[in-house]
Amino acid sequence: MKNIIITGGAGFIGSHVVRLFVNKYPEYNIINLDKLTYAGNLANLKDIEDKPNYTFVKGDICDFELIRRLMREHSVDGIIHLAAESHVDRSIKDPFTFAQTNVMGTLTLLQAAKEYWESLPEKYEGKRFYHISTDEVYGALQLTNPEGIESPFTTKASSSEHHHAYGEDFFLETTKYTPHSPYSASKAGSDHFVRAFHDTYGMPTIVTNCSNNYGPYQFPEKLIPLFINNIRHRKPLPVYGEGLNVRDWLYVEDHARAIDVIFHKGKIADTYNIGGFNEWKNIDIIRVVIKTVDRLLGRPEGADDDLITYVTDRMGHDMRYAIDSRKLQRELGWEPSLQFEEGIEKTVRWYLDNQEWMDNVTSGDYQKYYQDMYNR
Ligand code: NAD
Ligand code: DAU
Repeated sequence: MKNIIITGGAGFIGSHVVRLFVNKYPEYNIINLDKLTYAGNLANLKDIEDKPNYTFVKGDICDFELIRRLMREHSVDGIIHLAAESHVDRSIKDPFTFAQTNVMGTLTLLQAAKEYWESLPEKYEGKRFYHISTDEVYGALQLTNPEGIESPFTTKASSSEHHHAYGEDFFLETTKYTPHSPYSASKAGSDHFVRAFHDTYGMPTIVTNCSNNYGPYQFPEKLIPLFINNIRHRKPLPVYGEGLNVRDWLYVEDHARAIDVIFHKGKIADTYNIGGFNEWKNIDIIRVVIKTVDRLLGRPEGADDDLITYVTDRMGHDMRYAIDSRKLQRELGWEPSLQFEEGIEKTVRWYLDNQEWMDNVTSGDYQKYYQDMYNR
């Protein structure tokens, strides 16, 4: 029996991790701790909310007394920490919230876990604090090959048509932290606290740094769901700058599977990069999304190309992210399962088939779901 708190389980990636753990491990108790900010949506977990091994707690990771109580009441053995403010554009407008949630929230969880685990006879034996971080902490890589070169590495996730890399270098686990945005600075700060709790107190911590995720249940402020919805409604697609920035895209369920493997088999105090060697220039991925939406809606090819609208660039916009995940493949045998073409088709189809989910999010109605569910 294991009792695990997953923070941020009502968000995009967290909901996939909660679903995977609740379904795969009926012998575990999964406690989803989520504040339900604008990004938290319990409709993401409708299919598992009645499972006997699942508990939802509405609460803030910055609330020390709450976390202390949860640790004791549920005899918590493990924490998988995903709760965060996650959107770069919001961090540019409101950095304080990012420092509060991402840095102070992580520190609060660490301190409450430390107190509880140190009070037990077995102390840290069999315990685990797993912190989910991002490739953005490594800063930005150069776009040395704007036309793309054949990538030296591929995985099942790499696009079949498009094995490009846009530079020679990749982020390694040893790459120096150089965050540029308030978001990535706050994630870097939280990563440092996690490692400090291992180095100072011997807490069994693990940190992973993943590339851009895409898939169902992503909040439509992020590029792919925002653009799918805009194309559907024939609204302009705001492309920042020249659309030349490069991101490395991984299907969200493959990230969740990596989290499962690393939570169970990862080496304490270690760091693993997670990614699929699947780099895309924004403008190219946008064209794929337009083409896929138009095809699935039965619109003629090219019908929506003129929705592309170049707008002022994001401040401090990182040029290129490209993650080297070979350590995770080599040491723990994780491989992405879904090729990019399949993943994007599945994703577009999901958003088109789940218009009600999208409408509830864009209208704000999703926030009533919690009230209807829990204020009975
Ligand atoms: P998200 O914004 O979709 O979800 C965040 C969740 O955290 C929401 O449910 C929200 O309600 C909850 N939350 C926010 N503040 C909280 C607080 N103070 N207390 C409790 N809950 C709180 O985020 P996401 O995209 O699913 O990202 C999850 C994690 O993965 C984050 O830590 C992010 O930095 C990291 N990450 C994301 C990506 C990506 O591409 N989305 C890639 C790599 C790493
Ligand atoms: O790399 C991992 C990170 O990926 C995560 O840590 C973050 O939580 C997640 O939000 C994501 O960050 P990005 O900034 O890369 O994602 P976003 O979807 O906001 O933007 C992807 C790219 O598309 C980026 O270069 C900015 C650009 N963009 C984005 C939006 C929302 C546009 O051109 N127009 C847009 O409207």
